[in-house]
Amino acid sequence: MRVPLLDLSEQYRNLAEPIRRELDEILHTQNFILGSKVEEFERALVEYCGIKHAIGVSSGTDALLDIFMALGFGPNDTVITSAYTFFATAGCLARVGARPAFIDIDPATFNISPDAIARFLGTCSRNGKGELADPAGRVVRAIVPVHLFGLCCEMDAINQLAQEYHLTVIEDAAQAIGAEYPSNDGTPRQAGTMSACGALSFYPSKNLGAAGDAGAIISDDDELAARFRTFRQHGMEPRYFHHVVGGNFRLDAFQAAVLKVKLPHLDDWSAARRQVADIYREKFEAAGLTSTLTLPAEPYRESGLTNHHIYHQYVIRAPRRDPLQEHLAGRGIGTAIYYPLGLHEQKCFDYLGYRSGDLPETERAARETLALPMYPELTSEMQQAVVDAIAEFYRL
Ligand SMILES: Cc1ncc(COP(=O)(O)O)c(C=O)c1O
Repeated sequence: MRVPLLDLSEQYRNLAEPIRRELDEILHTQNFILGSKVEEFERALVEYCGIKHAIGVSSGTDALLDIFMALGFGPNDTVITSAYTFFATAGCLARVGARPAFIDIDPATFNISPDAIARFLGTCSRNGKGELADPAGRVVRAIVPVHLFGLCCEMDAINQLAQEYHLTVIEDAAQAIGAEYPSNDGTPRQAGTMSACGALSFYPSKNLGAAGDAGAIISDDDELAARFRTFRQHGMEPRYFHHVVGGNFRLDAFQAAVLKVKLPHLDDWSAARRQVADIYREKFEAAGLTSTLTLPAEPYRESGLTNHHIYHQYVIRAPRRDPLQEHLAGRGIGTAIYYPLGLHEQKCFDYLGYRSGDLPETERAARETLALPMYPELTSEMQQAVVDAIAEFYRL
């Protein structure tokens, strides 16, 4: 049985009619950029996230870039982030001239380790102006935690460090829309809403996927939100008057319309993904594979929160990962490696001076992790085929 890593066709079949109606309406009006469809989607997102502002942008990458530009990060600034994430998080920091300070991950969750952040902050000191400076003398401005694979980072610990050191926190929630975190203050909090602002991605493969590139910035801060809007459109306010240099980060009406149709289904899809994860666990247990493989951790499962994990990806650790992946490919089973190299070891970041061995948990994850097929429509039979093929590999 062939089991693709991801198959979006059934989701589209179920929603084809309302999506086509929306797109047709846009074609009739010929209003393709921003406008009422984008505003409607932004309002729906505000409601879904329980936040004051949502700003639709052209991608998750552009959400991050807009945020970093609007916050004025630049040369002489250092920003703390995870070494184990999609490239955009650090790429956008580098594009504004800031230096990413790569931090190791918690091996259980793959998310940035608050203890490792604390260790890095311990190497920093106050400069003559009272600012926090890294060992090279750059000003440490912010922490960008990434809620990887649909699981929130330990935000209480991160926010506490940020408060102590007067740092801004920006959540990269590209993979985590709707994921919840059991905050110490007793209120469940959603990914992207626990800091100054959050970046969301609607890349088609995301839990909420557009029909092309799209993203959003969410924030409770009126002043920041206004800045993000201005930066979205070349720093223009009012029309053709530019006080700052922004970019073209506009969301288009087609994407907003597709997202607006899909958003009401998001929680059901995320629940179905959790069900898929439960079924994987049962089947791996039944196959006697749970001491060979490390299945995804669910640290917030007992919190009582519904979206304690939204399983954007289902990522296991597997011995002899590369031959296993090859074996699965031979059986028609799609897998992926997120990510094969820590960001600190990427060629383009040679200039930062990291060496192999600097971030051991990131490097181990890059060698051991494998993402298995994960989407709401995956059937139990397909999951059985995945588990059987893995069991066969370890028996050989
Ligand atoms: C953690 C993370 N950050 C940022 C992005 C960038 O989003 P986009 O692909 O929409 O530009 C992604 C997308 O995969 C991501 O996974």
